[in-house]
Amino acid sequence: MATTPQSHPGASAAEPLETPDLAALEQLAIEVARACGRLIVEERPRHVDVAATKTSATDVVTEMDRRSEALARAMLRHRRPDDGLLGEEGLDATGTTGITWVVDPIDGTVNYLYGLPGFAVSVAAVTGDPRVDGAWRPVAVAVINPMLGEVFSAHRGGGARLHRDGTTAALHLDAAADLASSLVATGFGYGAERRAWQGRLVAELLPRVRDIRRLGAAAIDLCHVAAGRVDAYYETGLHPWDVAGGWLVVEEAGGVVRGVGEAPTEAFTVAGRPEIVAQLTEVARAFLPADEG
Ligand code: IPD
Ligand code: CA
Repeated sequence: MATTPQSHPGASAAEPLETPDLAALEQLAIEVARACGRLIVEERPRHVDVAATKTSATDVVTEMDRRSEALARAMLRHRRPDDGLLGEEGLDATGTTGITWVVDPIDGTVNYLYGLPGFAVSVAAVTGDPRVDGAWRPVAVAVINPMLGEVFSAHRGGGARLHRDGTTAALHLDAAADLASSLVATGFGYGAERRAWQGRLVAELLPRVRDIRRLGAAAIDLCHVAAGRVDAYYETGLHPWDVAGGWLVVEEAGGVVRGVGEAPTEAFTVAGRPEIVAQLTEVARAFLPADEG
């Protein structure tokens, strides 16, 4: 049945031209994420070669990032030929339906390169323009961690789910704790300058929280918030493909995802229960360089 997207306080995102069936978009996101997840695991070469570097010498692309994005593109084009597309490895097409698919073909590429199991594929249908900070929002998503066989999915107004071993469980965040007893995940960008002040912020936070985790894939970090495996997550310098899938999983599990303002931005993304998000933002705000806040 067709579902009308709900309004969102921070988004000036345009509504789609037709009312999309969000449950069907979620199913498609799951299908695409599963297919790409299978591809990157089954065809991962014994030694993964770096095909190119992007923003710095350590910001790498592998051939499998490109193949995974090509597979997602082909599946989405076949099933939804008029939708827009945006992906980390260059996918960029304008559509006519008001829906754009935002794809991270391998999130956690460095884990993938080293054979560490924490990598994901994130597939998200969004409304608005994901190329503009704050002007879009996800409406139906799936994030797969193929090494664990876990798929997180959600559609707006329809709840968040974890599919594993043939079962599906609804995700609901527990009641709020405070920052001092929170396990907080974060990540670091690829540029040295950004990392230097990210390090200063971590140093400030570490004595104020239970502990910090740096697991290596933003999409999975966000889903871990929704599953209660960490209490909060924050990072700076994220792109729409890092955030789009996990954002909706967190919100549909009862959490919030914000920037310094209502919507997450490249400058700052923070996720968790509202009380912890507020406390974390307060600490982070003082550390955001002028151009980050
Ligand atoms: C990266 C991961 C990492 C985060 C970086 C992202 P990639 O994405 O999500 O956890 O800290 O900011 O760029 O490059 O592996 O797709
Ligand atoms: Ca990514």
